[in-house]
Amino acid sequence: MSTYILGIESSCDDTSAAIISDDVILSNLIANQDVHKKYGGVVPELASRSHQQNIIPVIHSALQKAKIDKKQLNAIAFTRGPGLIGSLLVGVSFAKAFAMGLNIPMIEVDHLQAHILAHFAQKEGARKPTPSFPFLCLTVSGGHTQIVRVNDYFDMQIIGQTIDDAAGEAFDKTAKIMSLPYPGGPVIDKLAAQGDYKAFKFPMPKIPDLNYSFSGLKTSVLYFLRDQLKQDDAFIEKHKNDLAASVQYTIVEILMQKLILASQQTGIKEIAVAGGVSANSALRKAIRTQGEKHGWNTYIPDFEFTTDNAAMIAIAAYYKYQRQDFTHQQITPYAKAK
Ligand code: KG4
Ligand code: ZN
Repeated sequence: MSTYILGIESSCDDTSAAIISDDVILSNLIANQDVHKKYGGVVPELASRSHQQNIIPVIHSALQKAKIDKKQLNAIAFTRGPGLIGSLLVGVSFAKAFAMGLNIPMIEVDHLQAHILAHFAQKEGARKPTPSFPFLCLTVSGGHTQIVRVNDYFDMQIIGQTIDDAAGEAFDKTAKIMSLPYPGGPVIDKLAAQGDYKAFKFPMPKIPDLNYSFSGLKTSVLYFLRDQLKQDDAFIEKHKNDLAASVQYTIVEILMQKLILASQQTGIKEIAVAGGVSANSALRKAIRTQGEKHGWNTYIPDFEFTTDNAAMIAIAAYYKYQRQDFTHQQITPYAKAK
């Protein structure tokens, strides 16, 4: 008999619910919050309120789309952290009440582990290959940039990470400097497709080991544009495609150099990428190209599993369910990565 789990994700500004049947995703719905656009970033207070408004309709629709009655659910899973506390509280509190009402177990999921475990989520119809352990996962999102050695589903070791900004922040902050809308990553990706990545050169950080740094890039873009705007106040408008392409190229180069080094140092050639920035077309292409060059098996998630979604919470929960790894009603969310 199949195990049905409801996954809930509410760590930032997307309210998402998914239903999984064993490892197959039956539905994965996301309510995006447009309220933040005019502020150029996520406003935590508004995010919590929108989650409060969205959570019941999203879960209702996820059940309907999966053609599952709530009485068929075997467990409820939720993101415990990291994320915005007010946002997390909405998902955690809802999960507690729903699980108590249905008298079924609850499963807590770490958001970053879930981004990685999204690689094991299958879609109805065709099964896709999944990474073999141990594999390396480049986890790149709005809040995190890590190279993770994944020894098993819940045995993960961070072998490199950013010492300042995340890769997603590098995209978002550059976009902000260029007066582009939030979130900047997808906008830069789109503009870059029409631009020349060699048009402008930005310096590469010199950070030891497998660690990253992106704050220097942001500063050099800022100073470069400040100087150019002094001579031509339409500089950004005239060169936005080339600027987007050049910044994107630099971010991808920075990410790939350390990923290649990590593979060389560990001898691991099973290489995955996860998190919101893994939606970036240049990064996806670079992983494929380097994969061919270095003999890697590469795992690039479907777009719907890149940015925040509840399918990744549900698949992580499926492996916890098999271990009977349940949580309790006293559980509280955590804001920072564990
Ligand atoms: O994983 P995610 O949805 O949320 C966090 O857990 O942070 O990642 C969001 C980040 C944002 O910084 C966004 O700009 C970036 O992912 N992003 C992209 C693209 N799509 C989303 N960055 C570059 N290119 C994209 N196509
Ligand atoms: Zn995320």
